[in-house]
Amino acid sequence: MAASSLISDSKEWRALQDHVGAIKQTQLRELLEDDARTEAMVREAGGVYLDFSRQNATPDTLKLLLELAGAAGVGPKIQAMFGGAHINSTEGRAVLHTALRAPRGAVVEDGGANVVPEVWAVLDQIKAFTERVRGGEWVGVTGKRLTSVVSVGIGGSALGPLFVHTALSTEPEAMAQAAGRQLSFLANVDPVDAVRALRGLDPEATLVVIVSKTFTTAETMLNARTVRAWLTERLGQAAVAKHMVAVSTNLKAVEAFGIDPANAFGFWDWVGGRFSVSSAVGMVPLSLHYSFPVMERFLQGMHAMDDHFRTAPLQDNLPALLGLLNIDFGEPGTNGQHSFYQLIHQGRTIPAEFIAVVRSQQDVYLGGEKVSSHEELMCNFFAQPDALACGKDSGTLRAEGVPEHLVPHKTFTGNRPSLSILLPELNAYTLGQLLSMYEHRVATSGFVWGINSFDQWGVELGKVLANKVRSKVQEARSAGRQVSKADGFNASTVRLLNRFLEAKTQ
Ligand code: F6P
Repeated sequence: MAASSLISDSKEWRALQDHVGAIKQTQLRELLEDDARTEAMVREAGGVYLDFSRQNATPDTLKLLLELAGAAGVGPKIQAMFGGAHINSTEGRAVLHTALRAPRGAVVEDGGANVVPEVWAVLDQIKAFTERVRGGEWVGVTGKRLTSVVSVGIGGSALGPLFVHTALSTEPEAMAQAAGRQLSFLANVDPVDAVRALRGLDPEATLVVIVSKTFTTAETMLNARTVRAWLTERLGQAAVAKHMVAVSTNLKAVEAFGIDPANAFGFWDWVGGRFSVSSAVGMVPLSLHYSFPVMERFLQGMHAMDDHFRTAPLQDNLPALLGLLNIDFGEPGTNGQHSFYQLIHQGRTIPAEFIAVVRSQQDVYLGGEKVSSHEELMCNFFAQPDALACGKDSGTLRAEGVPEHLVPHKTFTGNRPSLSILLPELNAYTLGQLLSMYEHRVATSGFVWGINSFDQWGVELGKVLANKVRSKVQEARSAGRQVSKADGFNASTVRLLNRFLEAKTQ
């Protein structure tokens, strides 16, 4: 297929479209009776077990999907990504977040230069700094140990680290390393969030990490100023040097903000914001909290999955298969079952995904007896996908004596697709595998559909519009007038803005 043509014009796409009719004739409850099929729809890599037999798919579908991947050039595109080609074409950048977790001796080139030594220079800097803070060698201005960390950042500069923090917060080794320490995140620019993030913290014992790739994001910079004021009003100007560090690609802006660039941890424009969790963005706050060795295992898990993605044939490649079967829907534990599963059962088909671990991070004991919470959770992990796939028919309900008026309400057509992913346990390493698998899955889907998964012009538009609102509101305020359509807003926005501005001045 020519590089510029649409995948939907290819014969492989059309073959898949033709196949849809045959798939529509199938029922998952019957497909699940076919042992050969279910066996053909299971893969494992590095202990990550993926069962996609509850997809509305057969081995023929898989064959067609793999042919589509071939037509879309997924294999060569994967190699191009790892090889440092500028596949983020709309920003003219390489996509090398995989280099962030490459082993020290690896060679990954951007424009002919090996980036791995600079990656490890920053990792060494993070290790040294976080060990000094955790060991009490780096203390606050009043000599107190810095046991609380507030990470200020938004979007990719917050969500990945927050996810990892949540996942590791009950893992025994990570927990032991975090004993006596606190980590919180401040992302949203709502004043309420600043109050919540700082509530109960002792400024003398708090280290603030400002995380911003660009160091220009309006919300983050405002929150950074708020937190800086919170520190300096209590501890004086000298607090900035001891209580504030930064993570950014823009070291000039870090310095202009007042943070010594020596206390900044860099990364590179070949790391997209959404793919930055394994850069200093995640590594600084999380190593402060959980220790560098724990977080190094996270990087090793990611690297293991990177290697699998780079080397495994597509038919056995977990992220690539997930990318071809791309679906996403989620909620922890059985929460989903008690909230939106009714919608999945009886509303429009919503493909779902179940992720579980063989061994729980924690056991709960009552009166010396181990409570079977994990078994309970796992029963649901096995039952819910079948409930969605197989449903319940009216004949069975009538045979059970269900009153006729309730039969339509208790009938579930089934045939709702899902994926099941089973990990041995959830620790820093397996979490790394999981996150890397999802990163590469997104890349694969983009490779097939011809979409650049790495640029962010859409979110840039929102940023530009927010800037426009800010400057027009300031202009109107200082001129003592209302905002009008002449300011470039539509009638609805003009009304909303003026209502807000008037109410503010009352
Ligand atoms: O608006 C999207 C985005 O640019 C993300 O890519 C990024 O993670 C987030 O905003 C925050 O940007 P920054 O890290 O530059 O503050």
